[in-house]
Parts: sequence; C-alpha cells; structure tokens
Amino acid sequence: MDKKALEALLSEMSLEEKVMQLVQIPGSEYEADAEITGVTRGQADEKVKRLAGSTLGVWGSKRLKKIQENYMKEHPHHIPLMFMLDVIHGHKTVLPCPLGQGATFDPEAVKKGAAMQAKEASSDGVHATFSPMADLCRDARWGRIMESTGEDKYLNSCMATAMVEGYQGEDLKDPEHIAACVKHFAAYGAGEGGRDYNNTELSEHTLREHYLRAYGEAIKKNPAMVMTSFNTINGIPATGNTFLMKKILREEFGFKGVLISDWAAVGEMINHGFAEDQKDAAFKAMMAGVDIDMTSGCYSGYLEELVKSGEISEKMLDEAVLRVLNMKNDLGLFEDPFREIDMEEGASVTEESRKLARKTVAESLVLLENKAQALPLRKERNAFIGPFVNTKRLQSSWAFSGEDENTVTVFEAASEIYESGNIKFAEGCTMMDQDSVTARGVCHMENWQEENEKLLSEALEAAKWADTVILCLGEDSTQSGEATSKASLKLPAVQLKLLDELSKIGKRIVTLIFTGRPLELADVAKLSDAMLVCWLPGTEGGNGVMDVLSGKTSPSGRLPVSFPYTVGQEPLHYDMYSTGRPKPASGPSEYTSRYLDCENGALYPFGYGLSYTTFEYSGASLSKEKMTSGETLTASVKVRNTGDMKGDVTVQLYIRDITGSRVRPIRELAGFKKISLEPGSEEIVSFKISEEMLRFWTAEEKWDSEPGRFNVWLCDSSVDGETLEFRLD
Ligand code: NOJ
Repeated sequence: MDKKALEALLSEMSLEEKVMQLVQIPGSEYEADAEITGVTRGQADEKVKRLAGSTLGVWGSKRLKKIQENYMKEHPHHIPLMFMLDVIHGHKTVLPCPLGQGATFDPEAVKKGAAMQAKEASSDGVHATFSPMADLCRDARWGRIMESTGEDKYLNSCMATAMVEGYQGEDLKDPEHIAACVKHFAAYGAGEGGRDYNNTELSEHTLREHYLRAYGEAIKKNPAMVMTSFNTINGIPATGNTFLMKKILREEFGFKGVLISDWAAVGEMINHGFAEDQKDAAFKAMMAGVDIDMTSGCYSGYLEELVKSGEISEKMLDEAVLRVLNMKNDLGLFEDPFREIDMEEGASVTEESRKLARKTVAESLVLLENKAQALPLRKERNAFIGPFVNTKRLQSSWAFSGEDENTVTVFEAASEIYESGNIKFAEGCTMMDQDSVTARGVCHMENWQEENEKLLSEALEAAKWADTVILCLGEDSTQSGEATSKASLKLPAVQLKLLDELSKIGKRIVTLIFTGRPLELADVAKLSDAMLVCWLPGTEGGNGVMDVLSGKTSPSGRLPVSFPYTVGQEPLHYDMYSTGRPKPASGPSEYTSRYLDCENGALYPFGYGLSYTTFEYSGASLSKEKMTSGETLTASVKVRNTGDMKGDVTVQLYIRDITGSRVRPIRELAGFKKISLEPGSEEIVSFKISEEMLRFWTAEEKWDSEPGRFNVWLCDSSVDGETLEFRLD
C-alpha cells in the first residue's frame, strides 16, 4: 500500500478503531495456552478482542492463520492483526543466551543468529520480536543481565546493531524476516541495588555516554519498534518521560517507528505515584509519545474519552495510529496477512540451524583457568558429574518457544566422542538448594536431603574411578531473566559441597559453569584445575561445549561482563573513573579509593578469556603522535600464535582521554577484531582512530572532543597492554 492509500484508510477509520490500533492484548485472549509474560488483570471484552491492533505470546502457523482469518473477517476495515513474540535467543533452535552471544565478540555470528531466529519465528507466523535488549548492565545481581550482551556500551552497540540487521534484513516485506524492537528504553539495567523494576538515578552525562549509547546505535538501523522500560529515570517513569521519548528518542535519535510500552507499564505509572488513575496514565503515556499500550488496558479504557474531550488531540492520535499502520504495511501485511507462511510445516530445528548454533556455542565459551593444561580433555577416564551434565534445560526462561527435547546435553555429546568404557555420568546433587526461590516460585523437594546423599555417594564413586572429573555446575535457568534479582552471587550450597567433597579425592577437576550472570568463583577456581563459563548455551549446548572440551576448537570467548571477587563490589565495571586518590598498582595504598578486604577490580575482568594456545603481542605503535580534528591515526600491534594449536584471538582497542572538562573513564573499549592464527603465524592488527571516537558529553552539555592527551592500549583484556599516547590538537 502506498502512503496515500494508508492515509485514506486512516481517514475512514472510526475513533474507536483508531484507538484500538494502539492496544495490545495478551495472546491468551485468542488462545488459551499462549505464553503469558507478565501479570494479567482480567479479560479484554469482546470489542477489544475484535479491534485490538496487536497481540503477543502466541505462535504456530496454523494457530495464527486461524486467529488472523477470524479477526480480519470481523474487523470493519479488515486490517490485519500483528503478532509479536519474545524471540530472545532463539525460536525453535535456541542459541546461547544474549550474554553468551556477547562473549563471542563476533557481531557477524550474532547477526546470522538473529536472521536464523527471524526465519524460524516468521514461518511460525510471528511478525515482530521484542529484541534486542540493548540495556547496559553493570550489576550481576540483576537477573536480566542474562538478556544483555554485557557491561560495555561499545560491545553492546555492535551486538544490538547486528541483531536489528539480522532480524529485519534488507526489507521487512521479506517473509524470512521480522520486525525488531530495541528495548528497554531506557537505562533499565541501572536499577538501584540490582533489583528488578527499581528506580534509576543517573546524571545526564552517564545516561548519554554509557546507558543510551547502544540503543542509539541500534536505532540508526531503523528497528520497527522501541520498547519503554519499567523503571523511573531521575524520578520520572520511562513510559511517561517526555524528555526521554520526545527529546532524545524522536528528536535526537530520529526514531520514526512504533514506540510500545513494556507489559502493563502504562498502568504501572499509578503504582509509581506518577499518574492518578488509568485515565491519567493513558494521558501521560500518550503525551510522552507511547504508541502501543502493551496490556495495561489504559488506552482501551480511556483513550477514546481523552480524544473526545480534546485533552489528546486527534492529530496526535492519528500520528500514532499511522505509525502502527505503517509498520503493518512495511511487513507487507496488507498485501499478504499471512506473509507466505507455510501453514503445514511451521518452524523446526534443522541441520543448518544446529550447525550455526553449535558454532556460536563454541565461540561463546570463556576459559577462565587452565592450570597445567587440564584442557583439552585427554582420552582417558572422564567422569561427567553435576546437575548440568544431562539436563535438557540449557536455555533461559525466555526461550519458551524452543522445545527441551531438541537440546543436546553435555553427556549425550560426550557419549558420541568417547567410548562407553571411558566415561561415566553422575548427577552429583540437585540443581538447587532446598526451598530456593526462582522466578516461578519456591522449589521444595520432599526427600531433598536423602536424594542429595545418594547423588553424592554415586558421584564420589565415579570420581574415584576417573582420571578427570568434568564438573558441570551453575545457576538454574529460572534464576536469571526477569524478576530474578539476587543479593548473593554464589553457586548453590549443595553444588559447592559437591565440589568440596570431590576435590578431596584428588583427581583433576575441570569445572564448567552454566549461568546467566557473573558469579563469585574465587573458591571454585581454587579447587578446579580448569574453569570454563558456558552461559545458558541452548539447543546445541552439549555439542558446542564438547567441541571445546575435546580440543576440536580452541576456546575464544571473552567476558562481556566483569566477574567479581564478591557481590559487595557490585555494580562493577572496568570503565570506572580514576578518583582523586586512585589505588596504586603496587605499594602502600592507605587513604586511597579501595576496599580494605577486596581488590577494586574484577577477579576475571571484562575482555578476559584464555585459549588452548598462547598469543604474544608486540610492537604496539601509533602512526603519529599528534592528530587534528579532521585526521585519523592508526594504532597497530603484531599478534603471534606462540603455542602449538590454531586459535582465535580478540584484539581489543581501549582509549583513555587523560584530561577532560568532565572526568573520563580510565579505559573505554573503542574497537575489537577477532582473528584466527595458525601455530607460529602472526598478523598485524590495526585500528583507525578518528576524532569522532573521542567525543563525549562535555561540561558544556554537548557531544564534542577536547584537545589534549590520550592513552591507547591494543591488548588482550581490559586490564593489560602497553600504554601508548597521542595528542589531539
Ligand atoms: C516484559 C519484559 O520486560 C519485556 O522484555 C518483554 O518483551 C515483555 N514483557 C513482553 O513479554
């Protein structure tokens, strides 16, 4: 449909019809077993069901075709209904959780993964996903850190951008692609104390320089939607925040698409104490520019009244409705409301999708320790012990459309590689401590104590038999994701006890950590010969993990978030400020900015990750000592594979602006390149540095660079490298 036809359609629509385009209702209104991803309040009445412009949480080609046919028949202008779904790290084929994808430092792989998810979701009738989540996360207590790609604005920008491109492709009309939604705008990851839905207090410069960056970069790729966040920012809920939505999102970022609220977030402005009642909430959300009200009922209940009374102008309403109609049109729904979906087949896991997932898993694993080359595994007696060895629950709670039975467990994959006489499996302990609280409630097991005693003795037997114990520990998938904030970052006590007991047997221990968030691993590291972070790896988890354990692939993942010594360091991030009393690298540190009982930095810092081979960095240099605004300079370093195995390495570029009108972080990631090196081979890796890369939100409240000295590092993690220097004149 062309623009004129769309406007003509709008002009024919009744006020009620228009309002309803801005209403999204849960899929459970159409299908009883739809996924409910928030708290529901009552049922929508028949009129709302007949006219609501979009729904969420249902998928399946046949089901959606039926819903669409019935809906369009009833709709006065036969406008198609839009189907949205949380396709967060996979639809049928589940990839590593987003934090794991961040660890790949491979935006190209992430883009391919997003395209694969789009294709699967689209063939199941889905039009739009609520992804990518571009929230910057510096706090491991926040369970939703699992849904992010980490603590760094630059890495997050690369990943969010890649996801938007992958989901949407070149043209949204292409039925292999779906609409993306950049969320949660804004700064949802900065909730006080790491508690979900909590308030955020952020200065404008921190907001702009750090928290807004990845959303802004992703929006440059024209995502169809942006979602508001649940939190307040400096006292104003994001969903009613005109500064954020009008000034920054629409004016500065130039976002032209549909702004959707998060689940019930419009109505939650009443709880925040920002709106008087549902009508006031609808008014405030509209004034802030929220186009679609996801499930709160405020727009369906009161928007018509607000327009009739003139409090909301019809022009404002029309603009919002037109954005929604435009999105439907961009998706090609007016020409083909079913987008060529194959009604019979629907989406399924394929050989090709498995291949991509497996490769991504292998790329996402981060080797934290490898004492005396405990890894790769030798062809000897290996005992696979722990609650993650043979579980199919290797995906996050957001991957609800993927079926567990498609998942390859670690033990299944290991059994393909090793002869049965050479491996043993023992569960070792329950996944959780007795009465652990998860997003889904309290986990209580009747015979928990007896069961664990039995599992432990089996594990000890297996360990005595083995040469190496591969211990698969971690956090259950219901303990990260939405509403899963935690004040402790320790593994469950029952798992730590298992490790402790096994360590007494004196065999080599390789510990695998399955997790959606950074955990306290200092004690685990002490008792382990090797330690590998596996995240929540998804459908091909077992195969990807075994590719690395067996040495088929050398690990190349890098931490996208700092792993702390202790939870007391949170929020923790590498790009901190110097302070007036920085703690010296060595020597006395009284009266400096430090903890008496802990390091300042991370146990395992951002960007860190080992390989089976070794890399040597040498000859780091800058092409010139000075540059002016219009120029660029080149930073280069030679990287050599000094080990005896092929490996991938992520060369990282960090910059520090030494003096500014506002203080600048001690380091900021400004680029990275992943290269593959054969043993003995070397490559010169170069990055261009331009004036644009040196800009920040200055004391004059504008994006600018300032003349002066800058440090540069070309290195292997956020804490190493030789310090280089140049001047910007
Ligand atoms: C609430 C979550 O915050 C958001 O990320 C998700 O997309 C919506 N619910 C829809 O399920």
